[in-house]
Amino acid sequence: MAISISLTVNGTPVTAEIEPHTLLVQFLRDQLRLTGTHIGCDTAQCGACTVHLNGRAIKSCNILAVQAEGAQITTIEGLAKDGELHPMQAAFRHCHGLQCGFCTPGMVMSATSLAQRQPDLTEADVRAQLDGNLCRCTGYHNIVKAVLEGAAGMKSGAAAQASAQVTV
Ligand code: FES
Ligand code: FES
Repeated sequence: MAISISLTVNGTPVTAEIEPHTLLVQFLRDQLRLTGTHIGCDTAQCGACTVHLNGRAIKSCNILAVQAEGAQITTIEGLAKDGELHPMQAAFRHCHGLQCGFCTPGMVMSATSLAQRQPDLTEADVRAQLDGNLCRCTGYHNIVKAVLEGAAGMKSGAAAQASAQVTV
């Protein structure tokens, strides 16, 4: 029997009827057509399905959509603002932090969540904290560079925003 859920996805309130066993990743991809969230393993191993739930990175193949009732969900489609890439997306592009790109949305979502919690990241932090996101192509070197550059960009963007608020 279908049940109703209400949540906010990329800033937009959504109410939908779903089967109780629907995974969050299935709901995002199949019902909302947000196909930037990928399915790699479907067993919480690879991180390709990573999204933010109330600001924290989670693997969306590992929770039911009903568990996101009332939550704020952000997917890769929700990161760019006003046609401008998020600093972490821009850094992945600048540093060539991808090859086939299959792992990239999940990497970016994990990296943004990490950099929000821990703005002064070291290479060791990135390697340790993103060990739940697997990439079959790149050898990780450029991904780590991208995450460090993206974290620095997020930090300077936040500082600029704070100073603009003080000025206003
Ligand atoms: Fe979710 Fe691999 S598809 S962790
Ligand atoms: Fe291909 Fe990471 S870029 S899996």
